[in-house]
Amino acid sequence: MKQSVHLQPCFPAPAAPSAATPLPAGGEALVRFHAVTKRYDTATGGELALRGVDLALPTGGLVAIVGKSGSGKSTLLNLLTAVDRPSDGEIEVAGVAVHALDETAGARWRRASVGIVFQFFQLLPALTVRENVLLPMALLGREPVQQREARAHGLLDRMGIADQAHKLPTALSGGQQQRCAIARALANDPPLLVADEPTGNLDSRTAESVLELLRQLADAGKTVVVVTHERDIGRLADRVVTLADGRIVSDEAGTRQLIAGGTSV
Ligand SMILES: Nc1ncnc2c1ncn2[C@@H]1O[C@H](COP(=O)(O)OP(=O)(O)OP(=O)(O)O)[C@@H](O)[C@H]1O
Ligand SMILES: [Mg+2]
Repeated sequence: MKQSVHLQPCFPAPAAPSAATPLPAGGEALVRFHAVTKRYDTATGGELALRGVDLALPTGGLVAIVGKSGSGKSTLLNLLTAVDRPSDGEIEVAGVAVHALDETAGARWRRASVGIVFQFFQLLPALTVRENVLLPMALLGREPVQQREARAHGLLDRMGIADQAHKLPTALSGGQQQRCAIARALANDPPLLVADEPTGNLDSRTAESVLELLRQLADAGKTVVVVTHERDIGRLADRVVTLADGRIVSDEAGTRQLIAGGTSV
């Protein structure tokens, strides 16, 4: 069943943290990777997970990152979200040089600027669904408690799980937990939503509805970057970027873009 999502930006765009160094102007891209390399140093030697990645993503749209296990997909997302830093190269998101953020500045930037959705949901088990969605708002502390409550309710309603708000996450189905996690990711109204195999733990029908939801968020103006092993993701994505051995080996329009009017879904 398709869920209809209507998102209104509730807050002004967050100010860039002062620790961020703006990169030279480079067009209208929301996200820019320039010659990004990531090397993991391990006891048995170095592991080159990304080898000179260049990528530019515009504002709005659904971008799928695909590729075999070990090709560097999660590494790319960790760098995009400032969870980790590249060994070389530059990453810019909405004018912020995220490769230059240290751990503290990265966490502060992430809170307002990126929503992250995980394969295993990573909801806090001791908090209710409603409290899980409220938490990022409380951490950011941008608006009064009453507004936070209203926004959390609105998000859960849009995800179709408002009636689950007072349950603990373990009392929800996998699909409902992932919808809660998406609501949480949207709590601070970030322009960028990043999901690493969000359907990897769901049955195929539930997976489809979660991907449809991400599609609707992209239609509502979010930039959604999703790592997935779903074979027919091109049907929903505007763009499919394929990684192999740490390199982008193809970057193509999704099939919906190839159909006149782009309304194949
Ligand atoms: N923390 C780490 N330390 C050392 N090597 C790592 C680390 N994280 C990832 N790697 C290596 O980097 C490469 C890319 O890993 P990454 O997790 O990005 O792959 P992936 O495409 O997300 O794979 P999967 O589809 O299995 O999730 C792999 O060879 C992996 O073993
Ligand atoms: Mg991965």
